[in-house]
Amino acid sequence: MKIAILPGDGIGPEIIEQAVKVLNTLGESFEMESAPVGGAGYAAHGHPLPEATLKLAQEADAVLFGAVGDWKYDTLERSLRPEQAILGLRKNLGLFANLRPAILYPELAGASTLKPEVVSGLDILIIRELTGDIYFGQPRGVREAPDGPFKGQREGFDTMRYAEGEIRRIAHVAFQAAQKRDKRLTSVDKANVLETFQFWKDIVTDVHKEYPDVALDHMYVDNAAMQLVRAPKKFDVMVTGNMFGDILSDAAAMLTGSIGMLPSASLDANNKGLYEPSHGSAPDIAGKGVANPLATILSAAMMLRYSLGKAEQADRIENAVKKVLAQGLRTPDIYEAGTTKVGTAEMGEAVVKALG
Ligand code: NAI
Ligand code: MG
Repeated sequence: MKIAILPGDGIGPEIIEQAVKVLNTLGESFEMESAPVGGAGYAAHGHPLPEATLKLAQEADAVLFGAVGDWKYDTLERSLRPEQAILGLRKNLGLFANLRPAILYPELAGASTLKPEVVSGLDILIIRELTGDIYFGQPRGVREAPDGPFKGQREGFDTMRYAEGEIRRIAHVAFQAAQKRDKRLTSVDKANVLETFQFWKDIVTDVHKEYPDVALDHMYVDNAAMQLVRAPKKFDVMVTGNMFGDILSDAAAMLTGSIGMLPSASLDANNKGLYEPSHGSAPDIAGKGVANPLATILSAAMMLRYSLGKAEQADRIENAVKKVLAQGLRTPDIYEAGTTKVGTAEMGEAVVKALG
């Protein structure tokens, strides 16, 4: 199995190095090949997504991505900015399903802004459709309003749309993910107001017939936002469109209070995927050896589970992470009095050791 390793810029190379160490400890014979992306791609080849990097990502069975977006490249024109690399990879690899777990380890319950009893032990998975919805729908633009009380004035407009096949494929990903967990799925929509999301609800309900072992319920997005803050632990897997998912997944991430702990996956129709921490390139701490590598290590675990068919190895990594947290090891972003402050490499080493 071939894994494309794309460290990126900023803290990307530091955190990826730890994840690679962990993968090398598993005793599997992965072929890992790395290539520059983002600011590193621009520095090496004059483009954030060099051709050879894209080719490597296309040929690999999975992609492990660090982060991109160092401030150094802020003055470049938009098409050369590091962030274009991630958009280009999503588009070229057809990554339409974004899986964002929000897990709050009991040891870190103090990091959340919510009461420990509301969030301690939280373990939910939000699945966001990533390539459709109002973010990509045409037509869009600014025009002269054709009707209504503001007729004749300038107006901005976008188009929300979802094709049946687009909804079906994300629904399949969601039901299958639910089968690997607690067999409960909540589909989030706004069917009471939006035609697109009444259609979404109908299609998800239809796909459900193929997954009778999963319990499905539907929830309006405004209520879902309330419940996420009120009683987040009652969810297991949530699936929703691009825009609602953008907002709900960021809100859910913040329930855990620690951006350095959250992995993510973006999958295509064949479970090939790109795996990356939910955070960015953290230019403020890049090169200091203090970045938390756990989100990236946990992303590698997701890669083993969802793309490489190695669920037991994913469990091993996740258990090793729990073990180092139980040992009291903390990078500065999750440090609390009474625990032991460690740097990026020490944290990576500790996970390697905990793998036994
Ligand atoms: P960020 O996630 O890079 O950083 C936000 C804050 O969290 C910073 O204070 C940072 O030091 C801290 N942080 C992030 N990851 C951490 C880790 N592993 N350990 C400890 N602390 C950590 O978000 P920000 O500052 O908004 O963006 C910085 C750059 O990253 C921007 O250029 C942005 O476009 C890019 N970005 C890239 C993403 C990607 O590569 N997929 C995703 C989000 C942002
Ligand atoms: Mg967002």
